[in-house]
Amino acid sequence: MTDKNFYVTTAIYYVNEKLHLGHVYEFVLADTLARYHRLLGEDVFFLTGTDEHGQKVERAALSCGKKPQEYVDHMSGEVIKLLEYFHISNDDFLRTTQKRHEREVQKFFEKLWENGDIYKGKYKGWYCVFEENFLTESQLVDGKCPECGRDVEMVEEENYFFKLSKYLGKVLEHIEKNPDFIIPETRRNEVVSLIKQGLDNVSVSRTAFKWGVPLTFDKKHVSYVWIDALLNYITALGALTDGEKFNVFWPADYHIIGKDIIKFHAIIWPALLMSAGIELPKCIAAHGFLLKGEEKLSKSKGIVLNPYDIAGKYGVDPVRYFLLKEIVFGNDGTYTDELMVNRFNSDLSNDLGNLVSRVLTMVKKYFNGEIPNRDEPHELDLQLQKSWEVCLDNYLKNMSDLKFRKSLVSIWSFVASANWYVDKTEPWSLEKKGSTSKLKTVIYNLCEGLRLLTIVIYPIMPVDMEKLWVQLGIKEKISSCKIPQDLKWGLLKPGTKIGKIYPLFPRINKQKL
Ligand code: ME8
Ligand code: MG
Repeated sequence: MTDKNFYVTTAIYYVNEKLHLGHVYEFVLADTLARYHRLLGEDVFFLTGTDEHGQKVERAALSCGKKPQEYVDHMSGEVIKLLEYFHISNDDFLRTTQKRHEREVQKFFEKLWENGDIYKGKYKGWYCVFEENFLTESQLVDGKCPECGRDVEMVEEENYFFKLSKYLGKVLEHIEKNPDFIIPETRRNEVVSLIKQGLDNVSVSRTAFKWGVPLTFDKKHVSYVWIDALLNYITALGALTDGEKFNVFWPADYHIIGKDIIKFHAIIWPALLMSAGIELPKCIAAHGFLLKGEEKLSKSKGIVLNPYDIAGKYGVDPVRYFLLKEIVFGNDGTYTDELMVNRFNSDLSNDLGNLVSRVLTMVKKYFNGEIPNRDEPHELDLQLQKSWEVCLDNYLKNMSDLKFRKSLVSIWSFVASANWYVDKTEPWSLEKKGSTSKLKTVIYNLCEGLRLLTIVIYPIMPVDMEKLWVQLGIKEKISSCKIPQDLKWGLLKPGTKIGKIYPLFPRINKQKL
């Protein structure tokens, strides 16, 4: 064990609607990162949860005739089901209606109040309930919300305001001194120019409705939902009460979020933390949007990607694989069934699936299901091993930086090398010629290749790789493997009895879909 701690979060999800595949993309990113860091032997805390307050959620509850609490209880349960379905290994799940959170939000506000960083004022202006966002006249596009295109509402009410302007210079300085604070660079540039344009002080409380965390020093007010939400990243650690987890895991290594909420995370959140004298997170990592073909997902326009339908057709892990392979981190990406089937058939079924079944079938046929001992390596054997070392190098470089696509590309180039090695060494003719010692070496190397592949793919496709691990017959648990120690060539134990062989990724017949 190292003594390194690793803290990763996703955004917390609004519970006004069911989640779609774009949300799944986000928590798969975080899950893969969390699983990878666990393999590195780090002490990982992976947080996700639901954002349950505010007008949008309150209205959604009322529109189906439910009390807000009853509604959010149900909807957050749906989010938990989805996380489980997609094999998400979060260590905690924070709901903003939980007492542990509300208490801390109140304390945080008291701190701001005592610091003199909030003051009472009047807000008169536009508000988009769907984005839960205050908007200036000049931000509107044809009189509508620039983000979601919906109608905005005129709001006039008493609010507390946070002195954002007091911290903008410091936030900018922090961004400039820490090039990795906001990734990718496009988002960093966007934030810098937003700050340079200047931003007004922000409302941090609301009085027009009640569905929020009441402020202790002025009970008419509830927290503005975005402040309540951002605070989840520290309230889940008990930052303002017991502080134990907070001392261990804060500052967060990654806040994984979508590009639409970068302003809240990269400007307002750091300013709030500065005001409270709390260290800033290390990295705000903003991913792009998942589109359906060319179009933005939109329930009202009927452009939906139901995660259960899609994973039901192709399997959970193949969908996880698709999202990470198809989308360059930071860019938008596209889902269509055709792209999905092509990926599945070419990468999973042909390249990896065939390799596995070729190799394991030979173990059974030539060695009675027992992995043989290897002998002195020859030229081709050394080439295969070399190809593994190149793959591993790239993998280690890219995984920590969220460059999952690149990691997968390097993994699959090793898959290609292994298939090439089978073709070149022709184990079937070695068997005919009676070159037993060469045959043993070839089959051992191929099994070793599979062992290594299974470990490196595990953070991306955890359940399917566990199944492959069982087929390989290795006794210790795959989740207890360590990176990079267990990725050294040649650790597979000869004599291991392989398990039952069956295809993990049977080819999908396009006609049948
Ligand atoms: O914004 N593709 O919640 P949310 C990829 N509660 N990611 C997408 C997406 C898509 N098509 N649509 C949404 C909120 N997301 C707030 C967050 S955090 C303190 C509070 C992402 O349910 C989106 O970018 O609208 C965000 O990161 C997450 O899903 C939750 O979105
Ligand atoms: Mg949203």
